[in-house]
Amino acid sequence: MEDNCFVLHGSVVFSRSKEELEEYKEAYLVCEDGLCAGVYEELPDRYKDFPVEDFWDNLIIPGLVDLHVHAPQYNYRGTGMDMELIDWLNKVTFPEEVKFRDRLYAERSYDMFVEDLYEGATTRAAVFATADVPSTVKLMDLLEDSGLVSFVGKVNMDRNVPDYYCETTQQSLEATKKWLHRIRGRYVNTFPILTPRFTPTCTDALMSGLAEIAEKENLPVQSHLSENPREIAWVKELEKDTEFYGQAYDKFGLFGGKHPAIMAHCVYSGEAETALMKKNGVFIAHCPASNTNLASGIAPVRRYLDMGMKVALGSDVAGGTETSVFKAMKDAVECSKLRWRLQDQSLAPLKLPEAFYMGTEAGGSFFGKVGSFKKGYEFDAVVLDDSNLQSMKEFTPAERLERLVYLSDDRNVVGKYVRGWKLY
Ligand code: GUN
Ligand code: FE
Repeated sequence: MEDNCFVLHGSVVFSRSKEELEEYKEAYLVCEDGLCAGVYEELPDRYKDFPVEDFWDNLIIPGLVDLHVHAPQYNYRGTGMDMELIDWLNKVTFPEEVKFRDRLYAERSYDMFVEDLYEGATTRAAVFATADVPSTVKLMDLLEDSGLVSFVGKVNMDRNVPDYYCETTQQSLEATKKWLHRIRGRYVNTFPILTPRFTPTCTDALMSGLAEIAEKENLPVQSHLSENPREIAWVKELEKDTEFYGQAYDKFGLFGGKHPAIMAHCVYSGEAETALMKKNGVFIAHCPASNTNLASGIAPVRRYLDMGMKVALGSDVAGGTETSVFKAMKDAVECSKLRWRLQDQSLAPLKLPEAFYMGTEAGGSFFGKVGSFKKGYEFDAVVLDDSNLQSMKEFTPAERLERLVYLSDDRNVVGKYVRGWKLY
């Protein structure tokens, strides 16, 4: 029998739909050839030969998905948060990211970042590296060794970045090609994604060159969009031929459609931008902690969900302080309540099952059939021991999940499976 045919026994929770959880107090979760073969209250005869791992009443849920995180920013989490986006980039972010040209510094930093992801409940991530190629390859090597599945991008920037960190258009494109060449055929679980940082730091010439690479190599794209008022005003100045921010990506085909795209934030996306994102199937990475820390605002997630758009969660470390996607779920719910109370009562607050869906199946769909225990999904699971969260009260599995979202940390994560392989 294949190694990745097995059964986990425990309490099981996953999303039945965008709004509803499916919960089992006691169930058998079957993995067959790396894919989920269903959740059963009684184990069907055809799986009787599969080895069973008994997690008793621990909770088993799909692995969490962080659709927007900056690996090099892990070093300065929890500092420098009394600025808005543009000042923060210039004063904190760029001076730190440039240090990753130092091999040892980069390797040690990325080791810490990857260890943090490995220890938590995240199984998949879309990651920004820096503009530097050797350290970006190192990050990909470390992520591959971890057993997690990720998209990783060498960052592109050719304007409005301090000289010590800025690339020329040609340097940026050549470095990108060199990076793609170096990693070709090197990984099973680690994939490249084109990463123009955001419109203010990318000329049309750079975008156009990246579009050619996207076409030739058939690559997805990740970037930032409509995050902060000063940034948006700046894009209006820089991109006189566009009517809204997203067009600056779309005019080069870097805004979904043929090449899947993740756009982080979308706090201030207007009607036309939203309609284009919907049409092109752009993934929105909602990053509530970052939007709070950088005083950017609160994205209208309820509107996006009601429109049937793809809205996932991002930690956006180090705009967000923690890599935990549970924390992002909690922040998403809390921020939506403040938005509803203080800003716009036409958009109802998010409920926990919706935030859970965003952090599992919605984000997972960027990777294929991922983020659920429905049949045929790739088998990513985390096992959670909540016995330290003391209470006299009895809880249903869904309530236990809710408590874990609000109260857990890495110590609660006691088992992890990715694509049917056991990491621990
Ligand atoms: N926009 C451009 N770069 C960044 C970044 O590193 N973090 C955030 N939050 N927004 C950005
Ligand atoms: Fe970001």
